[in-house]
Amino acid sequence: MTDQIASAVTDRVKIFDTTLRDGEQSPGASMTLEEKIQIATVLDEMGVDIIEAGFPIASIGDFEAVSEIAKIIERATVCGLSRSGKADIDRAYEALRHAKKKRIHTFLATSDLHMQFKLQMTRDQVLDQIAGSVAHARSMVDDVQWSPEDATRSDRDFLCTAVQTAIENGATTINIPDTVGYTAPKESAEIIRLLKARVPGIDGVTISTHCHNDLGMAVANSLAAVEAGARQIECTINGLGERAGNTSLEEVVMAMRVRNDIMPYQTGIDTTRIMQASRLVATVTGFPVQYNKAIVGKNAFAHEAGIHQDGMLKHTGTYEIMRPEDIGLTESTLAMGKHSGRHAFKAKLEDLGINLGQNALQDCFVRFKALADRKKEVYDDDIVALVEEATATASAERIKLKFLRVICGTEAPQSADIILEIDGKEARTTAQGDGPVDAAFNAVKALVEHEGRLELYQVQAVTQGTDAQATVSVRMREGGKIVTAQSSDTDTVVASCRAYVHALNKLLVRREKTKPAEAV
Ligand code: KIV
Ligand code: ZN
Repeated sequence: MTDQIASAVTDRVKIFDTTLRDGEQSPGASMTLEEKIQIATVLDEMGVDIIEAGFPIASIGDFEAVSEIAKIIERATVCGLSRSGKADIDRAYEALRHAKKKRIHTFLATSDLHMQFKLQMTRDQVLDQIAGSVAHARSMVDDVQWSPEDATRSDRDFLCTAVQTAIENGATTINIPDTVGYTAPKESAEIIRLLKARVPGIDGVTISTHCHNDLGMAVANSLAAVEAGARQIECTINGLGERAGNTSLEEVVMAMRVRNDIMPYQTGIDTTRIMQASRLVATVTGFPVQYNKAIVGKNAFAHEAGIHQDGMLKHTGTYEIMRPEDIGLTESTLAMGKHSGRHAFKAKLEDLGINLGQNALQDCFVRFKALADRKKEVYDDDIVALVEEATATASAERIKLKFLRVICGTEAPQSADIILEIDGKEARTTAQGDGPVDAAFNAVKALVEHEGRLELYQVQAVTQGTDAQATVSVRMREGGKIVTAQSSDTDTVVASCRAYVHALNKLLVRREKTKPAEAV
């Protein structure tokens, strides 16, 4: 029995992660090569079955990312996306060449709206293109996934014919995308049942579901598709993705685990790695996880109401349907302060599910000592913020903040004196502004000319107390490019200035990247 048939008849659901492809398409969520490799490594270790590493023809950066990830991933299948043209498919194959297990994912729209206005192709032309593209991909690899883009708004008879064409030409996985987040659970299930009832050969392939969250139903739609026979879910960490995002990996996986009584499906995911993956993705993209986000939000396991706290003390099961440790969230009793040594720090990181290499560990320990000198008690969230800060600055940044002093208070003007290191050379200036943050940003702007517009500036306290660290998030747009960045410090102005500098560094990287051949 082939792998595809096995998964179609068992209750094993494959997890296809597209954080690095659909997730990265989210405006401002672009990642560097090193960051993508870091995420892919965590995904592989946590047991993701397929990692969609990028869209190789979209840019040189995407090609390199898929190619480097293909070389290092040990266990998971590495997948590259391609449109239906021969050049796209060849480029995807080229990027995947070194993967132990490789998959080409090719797609073409099948809704009348997309075919008429976007593709300007007739139904017959679309069917010919599907046949040619899938056959070409299959001539290069054994594992070919085909997606009818905008499937949920496609004419059902035509959708069945299109899927049949893809199967006849060698597709081994048929993925059904709800591209615009339009479907609902009942309909999501009906489409899968329809395909199973009507398409010859469908039982020999894996059916997959790919949902967007525009109406907040991506997770429900994915689970409904599984109940109807889909055996692969496409999802992203933290639900990252275009517009309202994609199906959240942690939510579908934990839903099937916690409610296995009514959703008796298995995945290969080690759920204790979920928090680590969530934190990593939030850090590298600069997209903070909302406090009340299911599973990984800061409040997901916090009980405020007295009646809940009382019940929890008597029996955790009263108000808790899953344990924090199931997702890798452990509450450590180890108090951290300026007397804590390297071993205690390392043990705390392990408790928090953070595994660092020797160099990164040393860097974070030095930062921890500096923080503990300024703050009486260092909480778990402080340490997470500190590691995130270290990760954000780990890649070689062209601009570095070396010194900042601000004059602020009730008497205007507020001013900032700043030293930046730019490409290895120090530059200094002073600028004024409406408050210390504005003054600091003006000073940076005077030293680094750019057209970037600040679209978002957000400050959050990491913990309680007036000595708490502040995490500052900024989003900037320059032309069509959007970047986000974060920084944390006990000094809000320093955190703001660093976040701004990180964002500028990201813009510099984006400027150097080649533009996509054509938007998707
Ligand atoms: O949402 C979508 O249609 C996609 C396809 C490329 C699978 O991401
Ligand atoms: Zn998508």
